[in-house]
Amino acid sequence: MVAPPRHAKVKKGMKKRAATSRTSMKTRVRKITKRRPRSVPKNFQKKKIQEYVKTGIEGLDQLLDKGIPRGSSVIIAGGAGSGKTIMCLQTIYNAAKDGKKVLYMSFEETEERLLDHMKAFGWDVAKLPNRKDFVVKMCSIYDITRLLEAMMAKAEGDLMIDINPIMIPKGFKPDIVVIDSVTAIASAFQGKDTYRSYIENLFRYLQREGVTSFMITETEEVPTVFSPTGVEEFLADGVIVLYSLRKGDIRQNAIEVLKLRGASHMKKVVAMRVVSGVGIEVYPEQEVFGDIK
Ligand SMILES: Nc1ncnc2c1ncn2[C@@H]1O[C@H](COP(=O)(O)OP(=O)(O)OP(=O)(O)O)[C@@H](O)[C@H]1O
Ligand SMILES: [Mg+2]
Repeated sequence: MVAPPRHAKVKKGMKKRAATSRTSMKTRVRKITKRRPRSVPKNFQKKKIQEYVKTGIEGLDQLLDKGIPRGSSVIIAGGAGSGKTIMCLQTIYNAAKDGKKVLYMSFEETEERLLDHMKAFGWDVAKLPNRKDFVVKMCSIYDITRLLEAMMAKAEGDLMIDINPIMIPKGFKPDIVVIDSVTAIASAFQGKDTYRSYIENLFRYLQREGVTSFMITETEEVPTVFSPTGVEEFLADGVIVLYSLRKGDIRQNAIEVLKLRGASHMKKVVAMRVVSGVGIEVYPEQEVFGDIK
């Protein structure tokens, strides 16, 4: 008689136990390898570190606390001569000094004029670490109209996501864009609906590209609506208002950070001034005399 193979002598229960212990070992190994090392916080990889953009204007940065969350779109609203252009030029000059790439889109003033204006305040683009990082682009209403036609043609089939709605020069990837002004763009559109679809696309585009933007809007001296249709201020992440207040014969400029998503900021109207050779100065502790309703 042939002897049975050795393993046949192993009792059923023993086999099962061995199999079970093999499985649990596998599971344990898997569990151990899956487990995170204790020193790494749970959401370490998921959590994005929020970066902030500073304006470099001391008093304004105090109002803004940590700064403007990178990638935000911020409306800069104010009446004629309230300092919108100067404030934005000063901010992007400071950013360019810090190595950021900036683009200023102007519909009203030429590049030459703007650069001369800046020089008068001591902001000489020739002195920047990289002159090519500071781009001023003069745009015409016709350019925008042409663009609109292209967008409308594209809209027939698809979302207009691959249209660059502000004609950022090819090959230039700005960190900050200023649009001076959204009000000028709005005036190029005949119908409100076409402008709305354009502006929604513009916000979407800037958000997708992660660009921090300042969109200038022309308003009343003491505005209650901060954009051409009143919708833009809801689409925007932030609204900064420049007031021109009057008491008797005297006018005083004031500034307020009205809203800024995802950031803490001071909620008060404070005095500001355009100072020759210096630029915008903001006084966070100084009350203003006018009534703002
Ligand atoms: N060199 C300077 N020194 C002092 N103040 C100046 C100087 N240049 C301009 N300003 C002040 O700044 C104001 C203009 O600022 P800015 O051009 O930024 O205004 P704005 O809000 O862009 O005006 P607009 O709506 O006309 O475009 C002037 O009305 C003047 O009061
Ligand atoms: Mg201006």
